[in-house]
Amino acid sequence: MLREVLQHLDLRPGLTVCDGTVGAGGHSEKISQAIGEEGILLGLDRDSMMLRLAEKRVSGQNRHLRQASYREIGSVLEELKIESVDRILLDLGLSSDQLADSERGFAFSLDAPLDMRFDTRSGESVTRLLARISESELDRILTNYGEERFSGAIARRVVERRGTEPIKTTRDLCEVVESAIPAKVRRQSRSDPATRVFQALRIAVNDELRHLEEALKTELHQALAPGGRLVIITFHSLEDRIVKNSFREEDRWQVVTRKPVSPSPAEVRVNPRSRSALVRCAMKK
Ligand SMILES: C[S@@+](CC[C@H](N)C(=O)[O-])C[C@H]1O[C@@H](n2cnc3c(N)ncnc32)[C@H](O)[C@@H]1O
Repeated sequence: MLREVLQHLDLRPGLTVCDGTVGAGGHSEKISQAIGEEGILLGLDRDSMMLRLAEKRVSGQNRHLRQASYREIGSVLEELKIESVDRILLDLGLSSDQLADSERGFAFSLDAPLDMRFDTRSGESVTRLLARISESELDRILTNYGEERFSGAIARRVVERRGTEPIKTTRDLCEVVESAIPAKVRRQSRSDPATRVFQALRIAVNDELRHLEEALKTELHQALAPGGRLVIITFHSLEDRIVKNSFREEDRWQVVTRKPVSPSPAEVRVNPRSRSALVRCAMKK
């Protein structure tokens, strides 16, 4: 949905833009071209590995990359002595480079240590979370963030397994998930049940929904100049609900996308991971 995103960002030379989830810099590269050398681009990411990739596409004068959550945009602007920004883009979730990273266990198909933190300097890895969490709390995480039907059985198996040995790798976790789901259900399932479990645990250890909710409440709105635009791509119904509800505050936002923009069937065919993506845009009043 690159075209739709760029259309809603409504870029022109000289604008100041924050890409709050710069990732490998795909969107930022296009933004950089559109705002020209006199425009300012600020790229944020919680993951230092992604910033190293972004550097290859976005560099030079008026281009700034920082390891920070978009929730901290205010302090980064202060450091750079930038008063406000004209546009903010958030492209939430995980990048394909993180999925392919064999060190942090984002993908169930690669055997790796179970970490899944975007920023490994702080917080708790999935291994540590699974070592201490109560069965009921894990059940809640798998239900809320993964919509996992067998959340109760998986949570029970996790607690049983850690009683004999820690759950340290993606393979350990896949074995636990597999043992909790009836073979018939596994055979009939369109996607691997581990997909939902991994997604739920990643959202939990990175506290992703709280970052989004808190940022929408204050920082993103404060950072934008009046008339500035915020464009958000979500991949999960919980994220989209948070964005939709926040944009309903009519004294703060003027909604540009009455209905969220979704990818065309052709785009989903080429890039199946885009199937749950939704784009919303609002203007600061
Ligand atoms: C889907 S990727 C972005 C891809 C990017 N738009 C591109 O074109 O390459 C999502 C990125 O957001 C980052 N991320 C997730 N939560 C974040 C947060 N709260 N603040 C900053 N970055 C975050 C992830 O580390 C990941 O690199």
